[in-house]
Amino acid sequence: MAISSTIQQIQDVVEYLEPRLPKKPEIAIILGSGLGEFVHAIKNPTLIPYGEIPHFQKTSVEGHGGTLVIGELNGVVVACLQGRWHFYEGHSMDSIVLPTRAMAALGAHTLFVTNAAGGVNLGFKSGELMIIEDHINMMGDNPLTGKESALFGPRFPDMSEAYSRDCIQILENHAKAKMIPHKKGVYIGLRGPTYETPAEVKMLRTLGGDAVGMSTVPEAIAARHLGMRVTGISVITNMASGIEQKTLDHSEVQETANRVMASLTDLIISSLPEISRSATQQKSHSALIR
Ligand code: HPA
Repeated sequence: MAISSTIQQIQDVVEYLEPRLPKKPEIAIILGSGLGEFVHAIKNPTLIPYGEIPHFQKTSVEGHGGTLVIGELNGVVVACLQGRWHFYEGHSMDSIVLPTRAMAALGAHTLFVTNAAGGVNLGFKSGELMIIEDHINMMGDNPLTGKESALFGPRFPDMSEAYSRDCIQILENHAKAKMIPHKKGVYIGLRGPTYETPAEVKMLRTLGGDAVGMSTVPEAIAARHLGMRVTGISVITNMASGIEQKTLDHSEVQETANRVMASLTDLIISSLPEISRSATQQKSHSALIR
């Protein structure tokens, strides 16, 4: 898409949302498959269905809600994207990262990504949380491809700290204190929509992956490009193909995600104030793209 339309779309979203938001969001949270229930923890929520927001797409995947929920969690103003749209649904990278860019333009300094993922690391168990330390982009595309304006960020953005080290430490401390089973690791993003073959899973392990999924990477790239901090958690909803002697289906992913919702919610809520406080002065995106 031409860069001018990308900017126009962000402006349309910001113009629509700004008057409807009770407060400026500090942290944008993207909720993955089966994790939408998280929003029930939000105090005094303002709910805006995606269908009402310009250029937002319907989420066609079961377990993905399709509502923006804004409110307070443990004293922190959050904007929760309950559901995302995916590359495998045929959406462009530009469209997939629109909510992230719009949240940055509205003032969010940190992007908190969540997703359902398959465990690639043989030391992982289904139902565990993985604090994302880094990612490998194997989606065969990048949201920054094309003629990008200098308004967005550098042509060759640094990705040496794609996931904030401070946030990883904070999440780890809170997970330990709450005795929530967790791991840390590298998320590999693939295009999907097929689950992997056992041979592919072996390859992903050899390449240094700990978990595999079909999302998150575009949003993390777009956020870092804008100078937002990124942090995230994968819910290991299943062991990836070929590790256990069974077939994979989406209902298993949803069931496990629902089962670990409580500990995920607990961990995020308890970590949010510290994550928010640890944000250093970010450059103002709103000034840049409005
Ligand atoms: N592979 C890819 N994506 C996934 C998986 C998986 O095993 N589980 C949940 N999302």
